Amino acid sequence: MNREQLKPEISKIITTGSLKTREKMQHICNLIQENLPTYNWVGFYMAHETEPTLHLWSQAGEPTDHTVIPFGKGICGQVAVSNKNFVVDDVKAQDNYIACSIHVKSEIVVPLFKNGKNIGQIDIDSNTIKAFNEEDERFLEWVNEQVATIL
Ligand code: SME
Repeated sequence: MNREQLKPEISKIITTGSLKTREKMQHICNLIQENLPTYNWVGFYMAHETEPTLHLWSQAGEPTDHTVIPFGKGICGQVAVSNKNFVVDDVKAQDNYIACSIHVKSEIVVPLFKNGKNIGQIDIDSNTIKAFNEEDERFLEWVNEQVATIL
């Protein structure tokens, strides 16, 4: 399946009444990670309600030690502050970067907005260099819009 084919599948997960929100987010991570070959790790980090930290709610791919990330730290922490998509063609070229796996070569982080507020993000790691383009940005913005409706 490609990105466009995944959209109806994601919509189905979002509207499945028997699943809780975090289960839906887990299913979405699994679906994307299993179907898009360059999406080697997929996770949702969500902001703490009062503290300036991101917390890993769901993930597909290798387990990571980085389940809590302070705002400002790493690519994820920078997006929590900037409210902007961050596409990293080559993670080696980044100073403020948290390595989760030695295999990762590129990364994309897209903020998730609810009522205009940046409340979390989707984070994708790839073992391929320069794996992400503007179509990935548009796709992941769409995914986050869907997830925002259940948060
Ligand atoms: N590389 C991220 C940390 C999260 S892992 O990719 C799962 C960062 O620099 O924020």
